Amino acid sequence: MVDIFNKLSAIGQEHLLRFYDELDEFQKRKLTEQIDSIDLSVLDAGECELTRGHFEPMGAMTTEQINARRQELTETGLEAIRQGRVGAVLLAGGQGSRLGSDKPKGMFNIGVNRQLFIFECLMNELRRVTATAGTPLPLFIMTSSYNDRETREFFEQQGYFGYDKEYVHFFVQEQLPTVDTNGRLMLSAKDTVACAPNGNGGWYTSLRRSEVFRQARNSAGIEWLNVFAVDNVLQKIADPCFIGAVIDSKSACGAKVVSKISPDEKVGVLCLEDGRPSVAEYYELTPEMQTERMQDGTLSYKYGVILNYLFNINELRRTAGVSLPLHRAFKKVSFINESGELIRPEEPNAYKFETLVLDLIKLQSSCLAFEVEREKEFAPVKNKTGIDSVESARELLIKNGIEL
Ligand code: UD1
Repeated sequence: MVDIFNKLSAIGQEHLLRFYDELDEFQKRKLTEQIDSIDLSVLDAGECELTRGHFEPMGAMTTEQINARRQELTETGLEAIRQGRVGAVLLAGGQGSRLGSDKPKGMFNIGVNRQLFIFECLMNELRRVTATAGTPLPLFIMTSSYNDRETREFFEQQGYFGYDKEYVHFFVQEQLPTVDTNGRLMLSAKDTVACAPNGNGGWYTSLRRSEVFRQARNSAGIEWLNVFAVDNVLQKIADPCFIGAVIDSKSACGAKVVSKISPDEKVGVLCLEDGRPSVAEYYELTPEMQTERMQDGTLSYKYGVILNYLFNINELRRTAGVSLPLHRAFKKVSFINESGELIRPEEPNAYKFETLVLDLIKLQSSCLAFEVEREKEFAPVKNKTGIDSVESARELLIKNGIEL
């Protein structure tokens, strides 16, 4: 206790022990163990904006170029799947709060006259691909401590949506502490430091540390990991053509992109940063970058990422020691005040810190931008209505012949 008090007072955070004397032995141990294990680098993340390099537009393998070689590339990808060289990683640790539900986003029922869960859309697609390949592939599902149990139970209850459960492995992403506007760590209970999921960039570190990855059937032979977001109901998983194109181009990774529909569309943009492939999030684009056009009238920074990447495991290992930048976001974080009362703020009151999967791209030696048709592959469910919503995703599902 003295040690931990000294450690915290040296960094002005001793208030975390304010209720220590009221705790029983179990709670005391829980709190001190948590404090010992939390990553305090957030305290240095500071207020400064992350510095970025010089951006330039980047081209892509276009849909026309892909279609001209579709069959041959698809065969290459299917062969890699058959040889057990491909795994998939579903990022499902986020909180689907914009849909107004506390449940994991994948549990959202997008069906109208029948039940069709978001997870089900993804698993149907995975089943379709693996049936063509004639072999299942391992699917690693990243959850967070907030939704892990519910997600696992849901898959169990739904019979893994017809997929071989031996090939489905869950792992939990790590957390980072939250910090109030005075730079102080917070308590969410008398024996718990307030933390939040550490963003989707933590997937590789968490996966590598997880027991499931070591034990997963065939994981020893996996060379490629297809990482994708939970919220796109038209997401193509382990798309053989995409896999084949990345292998064929000898790139270290690949990113599926769509041509942006408008300059201010809220997607990250694949571009060159100091000459290397990189993704600039939509809020990082300057007004000039957003609107600049090429001679043919199309946007210069036109390729938006849809959060579907293919990473080479050896490249990921090579860069595993590099820390990703911490992005901070001002959010509502429940905490206990000095009197020990739980406060649930109505307005943002604290910073959450996240690493982002897109920051991994810059670390890879090369990246193939692979253009896909948005009407066939991009139906994100972010909001209840309007753009990227339940409504727009339903329309696109119907257009793709999926009955709702
Ligand atoms: C994301 C991409 C953006 C892309 C857009 C396409 C990032 C940071 N942003 O934006 O570049 O253009 O999708 O729709 O990649 N997640 C976790 N753990 C977390 C946080 C998120 O697993 O701690 C998962 C979510 O469950 C979801 C995915 O990451 O599957 C994307 O999450 P979100 O942070 O909402 O990013 P978007 O704003 O959707």
